[in-house]
Amino acid sequence: MTHTEVDSAARRRLAAMLENLSPLPPDPILGTTVACRNDPNPSKVDLGVGVYKDASGNTPVFEAVAEAERRVLADQTTKVYVSPPGDERFIGGITRHLFGADHQVVTDGRVGAVQAPGGSGALRVGAGLLLRAQAHTELWVSTPTWGNHVPLLGAAGLDMQHYPYYDKGAHEIQFDEMVQTLKERGPGDVVLLHGCCHNPCGADLTHEQWDVVGDLADERGFTPYVDLAYHGLGEGMDADAYGVRMLADRLPEMLVSYSASKNFGLYRERTGLAFTVNATAEGAKTDTSQMANIARELYSMPPAHGASIVGEILADEELTTLWQDEVATMRERINGLRALLSDELREATQTTEFDYIAGERGMFSFLGLSPEQVTQLQAEHSVYPIPSSRINIAGVTEENVDYVARSIAAVV
Ligand SMILES: Cc1ncc(COP(=O)(O)O)c(C=O)c1O
Repeated sequence: MTHTEVDSAARRRLAAMLENLSPLPPDPILGTTVACRNDPNPSKVDLGVGVYKDASGNTPVFEAVAEAERRVLADQTTKVYVSPPGDERFIGGITRHLFGADHQVVTDGRVGAVQAPGGSGALRVGAGLLLRAQAHTELWVSTPTWGNHVPLLGAAGLDMQHYPYYDKGAHEIQFDEMVQTLKERGPGDVVLLHGCCHNPCGADLTHEQWDVVGDLADERGFTPYVDLAYHGLGEGMDADAYGVRMLADRLPEMLVSYSASKNFGLYRERTGLAFTVNATAEGAKTDTSQMANIARELYSMPPAHGASIVGEILADEELTTLWQDEVATMRERINGLRALLSDELREATQTTEFDYIAGERGMFSFLGLSPEQVTQLQAEHSVYPIPSSRINIAGVTEENVDYVARSIAAVV
C-alpha cells in the first residue's frame, strides 16, 4: 500500500466512527428565535430568547461596561493566562456585592470562590466539587427549572431528582409540596434553588418561604446550591441576595453559582463565579483549591475579558454607581412591562386570568397555553413564546404590548 492509500484507509475508519452520530433537532428556544427571524410579518414579536432587550428591542452594552472596557484595554500589557482561580478584583467585588462586605462569612474568610466561564461554567465546577466530596450525589431541582440544568448537571455526573415548585395552571408556587419533598432530604443531598427571578416561571420564594427552606436545610442537613443568574433584576441587589445571605448566616455549608451575563450584559464574555460557603476558613481554602483544580481539568484557565471589566467596575465607586443605576433601569423596565402586560391582558380577555404576571419577577413567565395554542399564536399572530408557553417579558414593548395582549386573548 502506498502512503496515500494508508492515509485514506485511516480516514475512512475515522469517518466510520463519526458516522455513528445522528444530527440533533434544533434547541427549542433557538428554534423559536429562528422561526421568528424568518417570519416576514412586520408586527412579529420574539418572546423566546432569554436575553434582556430595551424598548428598541436591542441588548445594549452597559455604559459602565463600555467605560470599564476602555480602561481595561488602555491598561492591558499582556494576554498571558489568568490563574485557574481567576481575577482577584472580580472575585472580591462580586463576593462583596453578593454576600455584603460585612457578612460574617466574608469577614471570617469562609467563602471559597473561583471565576468560571459564565453561570453555566460555575454550575459545572460546583457539580465537580460535589462529586469529589461524594461520588454519588443526588441533586434536587425544581419542577420546572432552567432547561439546561438537567443536561448540564446531569452530564457532570450528578443524580438528578426533582421537587415540585410551580403549578403552571394555578400560577402559584407549590410551597407545601416543595416543603414535603425537602423534609425527606438529608445529609449528602443537594437542593438547587433559584436565587431570584426563577427561570422559567418568574415565581420567587418570599423571604418567609426562604426562611422555611433555611430551617429545613438546618434541621435535615441537606446542602443548598443557589443558582443566581439574575442578581439585581428582581427586587434589587440586596433583596435578590436575601436567600444566599440568609442561608450563609444559618448553615455551615452551601454552594452558589453566579452569572454576570444578564446583570452586566456580558453574555458572550462568559463571566461567572463558583462559590462555596464553608464551616471554616481553612475549608474554604480547600474548596477554592479543589474548584481551581476542577477548572484546570475542564478548561484550564477562565476567560479574562469579562471578569476584568467587572473587576474594573466594582473597584471604582463611580462606575459601580453607574452600573447599579443601569441595573435598576432594567429592573424597573421589566417590572413596569409586567404590570402593563397584565393590565392589557385583563382588558383584552376581560378576565383576571393573567394578573399573576405583574407579581412575578425577572424576565420569564408562563402564559399557561397548550402547545396547540402556542402554535396558533405563532402561526396566526406572529407572536413567539417558546413551545412551553414561557415568554420573555423583555420582548414586550410599549408599542407592541396591546398587539401581544390581543393576540394572546385571541387564542385562549
Ligand atoms: C437559571 C440560570 N442559570 C444559569 C444560567 C447560565 O448563565 P450563563 O449564560 O452565564 O452561563 C442561566 C442563563 O440563562 C439561567 O437562566
